[in-house]
Amino acid sequence: MILSTTNPPIPAPQAVPTPSNFAREATSKPRFVELPIAPRNASPVPELTSIHSVKGRGPYGDNRYRGNCGGHIIRDLLRYFQPKNVLDPMMGSGTCRDVCRELRIPCHSMDVRKGQDAADRASYADCEPVEFVWMHPPYWRMVRYNADSRCLSNAPSLDAFLDQMELVLRNCQSVLKPRGKIAVLIGGYSDRGRYQPLPHLLVARAIQVGLWPACTEIIRFQHGNTSSRKTYRSSFIPGLHDVCLVFERV
Ligand SMILES: C[S@@+](CC[C@H](N)C(=O)[O-])C[C@H]1O[C@@H](n2cnc3c(N)ncnc32)[C@H](O)[C@@H]1O
Repeated sequence: MILSTTNPPIPAPQAVPTPSNFAREATSKPRFVELPIAPRNASPVPELTSIHSVKGRGPYGDNRYRGNCGGHIIRDLLRYFQPKNVLDPMMGSGTCRDVCRELRIPCHSMDVRKGQDAADRASYADCEPVEFVWMHPPYWRMVRYNADSRCLSNAPSLDAFLDQMELVLRNCQSVLKPRGKIAVLIGGYSDRGRYQPLPHLLVARAIQVGLWPACTEIIRFQHGNTSSRKTYRSSFIPGLHDVCLVFERV
């Protein structure tokens, strides 16, 4: 082998990548993403996979209600699990109620705004045993829903929030039929500079109360999020999804 005694050419210094106009342009508009092919199976809802990306909210609930989600994921889950009745302990503007109405499934709804605290067992006194619970709680204090101290968005600490969620899970479990499911839609967010991985923490609490994931977690793309239209001076990795967890008894 002949070794060269001359030094290899020094590469020209690379420009430190900065967000170019091109990159800014690319992230400020919706982009098409190729989803992996899902295996064929006997699912009654083959389009329901671990990635849920449906734009628009459908004719369900009220989009003016802050922190609301669209109805498509609820609809897909109900068509998949086909429960005979549903409980929504945190109804907000009633997205789940409206989906159930369309699918002709009886739905028992409550909310702390109507005086029903989902963490209080007494609130379930007139609730019949159910086959499916849909729950979309506050993502701790990301959005403050009201001034009621029982509202989960007013929990004074992360532990207090998780303790309350644990009570809600226990209460829902107490009215759940043996093969019933509890679906929770929740997302992580950065709170005063610290990331709060609420879905992960909730799985740990659910397991403590005797629940277990019934299927894959479902990553729900948050199309049309208010924060996606904002500009921030700080640097961070934007979260564009929340997570739907489905539990059943162990
Ligand atoms: C993310 S919003 C639900 C939005 C709802 N999916 C909809 O269709 O508009 C969370 C809701 O949880 C309710 N909530 C918070 N703490 C509660 C509690 N302890 N018991 C019952 N509802 C509660 C809030 O009042 C709020 O309406």
